[in-house]
Order: sequence, then C-alpha cells, then structure tokens
Amino acid sequence: MNENHEIHAFLEAEKIAKSFQIGSHRIEVLKQVSVMVNAGEWVALLGASGSGKTTLLDILGTISRPDSGTLYIGGQNISRLSARETVSFRRKNIGFVFQAYHMLPELNILENVMLPAMLEHQSRAEAVQKAEMLLERVGLAHRIKHRANELSGGEQQRAAIARALMNTPSLLLADEPTGNLDSVTGNGILDLFKEIHAEGKTTIIMVTHDRKVADLADRAVALQDGSLCC
Ligand SMILES: Nc1ncnc2c1ncn2[C@@H]1O[C@H](COP(=O)(O)OP(=O)(O)OP(=O)(O)O)[C@@H](O)[C@H]1O
Ligand SMILES: [Mg+2]
Repeated sequence: MNENHEIHAFLEAEKIAKSFQIGSHRIEVLKQVSVMVNAGEWVALLGASGSGKTTLLDILGTISRPDSGTLYIGGQNISRLSARETVSFRRKNIGFVFQAYHMLPELNILENVMLPAMLEHQSRAEAVQKAEMLLERVGLAHRIKHRANELSGGEQQRAAIARALMNTPSLLLADEPTGNLDSVTGNGILDLFKEIHAEGKTTIIMVTHDRKVADLADRAVALQDGSLCC
C-alpha cells in the first residue's frame, strides 16, 4: 500500500480513465472517474446505454485495467498487483453477477456454484456443503442436479448469485442482474440483494437502467459523458 495514501473508504477509485481504439477512432469512455464506496454500502450505477457502466464495473471488479488512475479495495492498491495477484485477489474478494448469467451449461447447478471454491483449491466436501446451503438460500435446493440450460432465466440468475457468494466476497458487483427477467422474477432477485445488503457484510455495486431499482440502493451515481455525477 502507498504509505502516503490515507484510505477512507472500502473502495476508492481515483481518476480512472479508459478509452478504446476502434480503427482510427479513439473513444474516451471514462474520463477521470473518481468514486468512493463505504463498506456495506449498496451503490447503484446508472447511465444511458453505451455510457461506460460495464467498462467501469469491470475495472472496479479488477477484470480489466484502466489506462490511468488508481483503485483501492479494502486498502489494497490493485494497480500495484501483478496479473496473477490480481486474479487471486478477485477470486477471494469479489463476486460477479452478470446480466446474461454466464453459467457453464455442461455442469449442473451445484457444480457451477462450487466452481469459485474449486478454483481456490478448497476442499470439495466443504464446497459441496456451502454450495448446497447457498442454493437452498436462493430457493434452488430442488434443482441442484439440473444442468444450467435446464433452468429458467430467473433460476439461472439465482444460481449465479449463489455462485457469486461462494467465496464470501466482500464486494458484490452486478451488471443489470434483472435486465433479462420479467418484473416478478426480477423482484425475487432484488429481494435477494436486499437480504444480502441487510446482513451488512457485503458492499454492493449494481448497474441498472431502472430508477426504481436504483432507489433500493443506499445511493445512486450516474455516468454521463465519461464522468460520474449524482
Ligand atoms: N472492448 C471494447 N472495445 C472497443 N470498444 C468498447 C469495448 N468495450 C466497450 N466499448 C465501447 O465503450 C462504450 C461503453 O461501453 P459499455 O459496455 O461500458 O457501456 P454500458 O453503459 O455498459 O452500455 P449498456 O447499458 O448498453 O450495457 C461503448 O461505446 C462501447 O462500444
Ligand atoms: Mg453494459
């Protein structure tokens, strides 16, 4: 950690910039984006399509690196980690829920949920126990032996939440987790996020287009023209 840097928040992004080169054209998607998120806080990230929400979420989740700027999570300066250290940090500390679920179709639901623990070389017996507990919690105890492609969208997203929680992440990132679901099914997913938030152990950043979804969060920030505003 940089000794000169005083950490105030659980997550602190400073002057994050990211641009993409497409042919001869360069688009500056994020220009000097700074954001602080406290431990246990639920922040909604709003913005028009193409405003850079996924780009920012991927950087905050250490999936991609910014062109410039620094990112601290739990006091750890991510910008200083090697690629290998970053992967390890991500697996231990961050859970992702994507709009399109991203379950592995050839595995059953239990195996999908266990995967993050298996990648961390945890004991298989303990992983089975924890995955069963999480699947019970998201209301899928009766589906554990089903393959992912035998489940409905809402069921797959509930399993994806269980998978995201498998390594007890301190940071849970969700990119439009209800975007592909009807409103009743989506409300069930949002109820799960409310429960996780109420436990107070997980910091949540959730991308959404929907103001009503954003209203569930403690705070909403919006991306516009490459900058964050409220
Ligand atoms: N890998 C990439 N290469 C080139 N351009 C990219 C890449 N990823 C994103 N972009 C561009 O960056 C801009 C922001 O994309 P991003 O996916 O972050 O938007 P978004 O706010 O998540 O949009 P949506 O609400 O539609 O998901 C878009 O113009 C997109 O085309
Ligand atoms: Mg997106």
